[in-house]
Amino acid sequence: MELQLETAGESHGPELTAILAGIPAGAPVTAAYLNARLAARQGGAGASPRQRTEQDEVEITAGVRDGRATGNPIALKIRNRDTTYAHLPPVHAPRPGHADLAGALNRGLSDARDVLERASARETAARVAAGAIAAECLEALGVHVLGHTVALGGVDVGGAVDDDLEACRARRDASALHALGSAEAVDVALDLVAQAKREGDTLGGIVEVVATGVPVGLGGHERPETKLSTGLAAALMGVQAVKGVEIGRGFASAALRGTELHDTIVPTALGELPARGGNEAGGIEGGMSNGQPIVVRAAMKPLATVRAALPSVDLRTGEAVPARVERSDVTAVPRLAIVAEAVVALELLRHVRRRFGGAHLEDVRAAIAAHRARMRATLAP
Ligand SMILES: Cc1cc2nc3c(=O)[nH]c(=O)nc-3n(C[C@H](O)[C@H](O)[C@H](O)COP(=O)(O)O)c2cc1C
Repeated sequence: MELQLETAGESHGPELTAILAGIPAGAPVTAAYLNARLAARQGGAGASPRQRTEQDEVEITAGVRDGRATGNPIALKIRNRDTTYAHLPPVHAPRPGHADLAGALNRGLSDARDVLERASARETAARVAAGAIAAECLEALGVHVLGHTVALGGVDVGGAVDDDLEACRARRDASALHALGSAEAVDVALDLVAQAKREGDTLGGIVEVVATGVPVGLGGHERPETKLSTGLAAALMGVQAVKGVEIGRGFASAALRGTELHDTIVPTALGELPARGGNEAGGIEGGMSNGQPIVVRAAMKPLATVRAALPSVDLRTGEAVPARVERSDVTAVPRLAIVAEAVVALELLRHVRRRFGGAHLEDVRAAIAAHRARMRATLAP
């Protein structure tokens, strides 16, 4: 069974639509849970006034009955409040760093409006709603996923993620930056956001997603396409403005020795999985989940729409002009934490569906339990 997601909708069109196929029958789908994730996506310091205009609420129009997935494709709608698409001006002065120039040239247009209406991260509302369905299904299978901000504008605001991801989630949701770091560090970063806002500038940063309870063996070493690492990297790189992804120690591991980096394998009782000396691998070896928490990070560039407009060119005349300024966030890193959590949940569930199949949630549970029993039997022949 393959999980499939398609989204449609423009930033200022009437609504966003998501169609999610492959959720097993019987999986809980709670509108309040989806709406809480949508509210989190709109929150966090640095968000533009658009986030106060839109108060996202999901409408589930197919595939769910009495709060449970039926097994049919699920259809979701999120209405836009700002529906001015038809009346918005053309965009002849592309913003460096946005999709405007490449998209307009690609389509042979001198107006980038249709390009940016779809490139805009308003689309992530649809993906967050779909990702919340995946996350709720994973939770029913004992897998928990949490995204949080670890750096903003070069300031480290990261904090330890302990075993109780739900307690971390409450702390994350209460933080203006969706961060788990100290109040002092968050204050320093908030000052930076305020300063960038005053100066008409934007900031980037880094988010981390941690997943616990992931069954061993999701993904596969056989081909690049089967690897869980490939899927997670693609899912995160597919999010607007993400410019780098790392798993575990990632780029920093390049400077370490093998004896420093690798997580030793430590014997335990017969029938138990061997313990590990650490989790520098971020829970993935050989493209497969190894039973440790999955730890992935995504780097977000500073946003392209800067009030102190960057130099550009009028696509009609070739003359030098300032880039068009649209209503924009100062930073979207806290919001990315929620989007990243959603796309990682979707990717993990995709691999759970591939590995364990099943038409009903109980089939998936039974298949995971049987797999665990077989692993234990292997370890205690
Ligand atoms: C949650 C979120 C919010 C974003 N908000 C803005 C924004 O307000 N202004 C902006 O210029 N870019 C914003 N972006 C990034 C652009 O959508 C992105 O840079 C653009 O589509 C070009 O794609 P690329 O950066 O991946 O090349 C946001 C991205 C995310 C994930």
